[in-house]
Amino acid sequence: MSKPAYILAFESSCDDTSVAIVDTDYNVLCNLISSQKEHQDYGGVLPELASRLHLKNILRLTEAAYIKTGLSKDDISAVAVSINPGLIGSLIVGLSFAKSYAWSLGLPLITVNHMLAHIFANFITHKDIKAPFLALVVSGGHTELVHFEDMLKFTVVGKTLDDAAGETFDKTAKILGLGFPGGPIIDELAKKGNPKAFDFPRGLNKKGNYNFSYSGTKTAIYNHILSMDPDEREARLHDLAASVQQAIIDPLINKSISWARVNGIKDILLAGGVAANSALREQLGQKAAKYGMKLHYPGLSLCMDNAAMVAAAAIPKYLTGHYSDLNVNAFSLKGTKLL
Ligand code: KG4
Ligand code: ZN
Repeated sequence: MSKPAYILAFESSCDDTSVAIVDTDYNVLCNLISSQKEHQDYGGVLPELASRLHLKNILRLTEAAYIKTGLSKDDISAVAVSINPGLIGSLIVGLSFAKSYAWSLGLPLITVNHMLAHIFANFITHKDIKAPFLALVVSGGHTELVHFEDMLKFTVVGKTLDDAAGETFDKTAKILGLGFPGGPIIDELAKKGNPKAFDFPRGLNKKGNYNFSYSGTKTAIYNHILSMDPDEREARLHDLAASVQQAIIDPLINKSISWARVNGIKDILLAGGVAANSALREQLGQKAAKYGMKLHYPGLSLCMDNAAMVAAAAIPKYLTGHYSDLNVNAFSLKGTKLL
């Protein structure tokens, strides 16, 4: 067996700047993340501020990655970076840095789709997963079911027609005045609540429909919360959180299991920020086991935006020589893609 090569990876698609060094056997030597707390006062991410902070952090993190691993520039075999989807100004910071780095050291540049990177975070935690598998990718802006025939050959078999699952968590928390991002807050509150206390609608729940819709669910949640007086909201906060969470995760669970059953898939990979949700992990895992399937998900820290997942998605490309030209550009179009 040949010695693994080291990939230096950058992630800057939203509000986390991250630099990682990962070897081609999916071992993470370092995965440094600088989360931009500066956006907290605004209830969301300010794109211009995000780009400026990436610019401030990226070199510092790269230097820290070498100090942490004891490696030098000469040990690196390729440079990987996520170039889509995301905030365009933020992506351009990471891409420009990666391009200069690759060009000045004469290294190949590997560009990666951020959603694909979320899926590949699973290989860091579970090195033995083999295609075919079904990936459920759920983040702040995405809700997709992706069928992989092969590591580099996949088809999106279901996606949201309007809002995303993570966004529904975030907007619910916002209207309740709970802070941002809402997912982890709702997850925690829901642990002490009754998921059947309030009945919110589940979008597109007809058998055989693998697309998602959260706009009706979101509106029903809003209207219900607005119809409650402040004392009642406070008193029922745990029940509200649990019922909202269940309305968001039910379609994710049912559609993934149903598609996997119909198509004879045995492995389901959960990915994206919402993959950190404890109820989703538990209930999807139980249902998968009931039908003889296995659910895989990354370690909690790998569910959030990070550069180790970018390196992981770059590994199959590195091994097959899928490199990018230095005139490649970043773009914000949504979806899981092979770039
Ligand atoms: O993948 P990610 O870090 O960023 C995007 O690419 O969007 O995902 C962020 C999303 C946010 O909507 C956040 O509320 C959600 O992931 N999230 C969670 C949990 N942790 C993060 N949603 C539900 N439960 C959680 N524990
Ligand atoms: Zn993400």
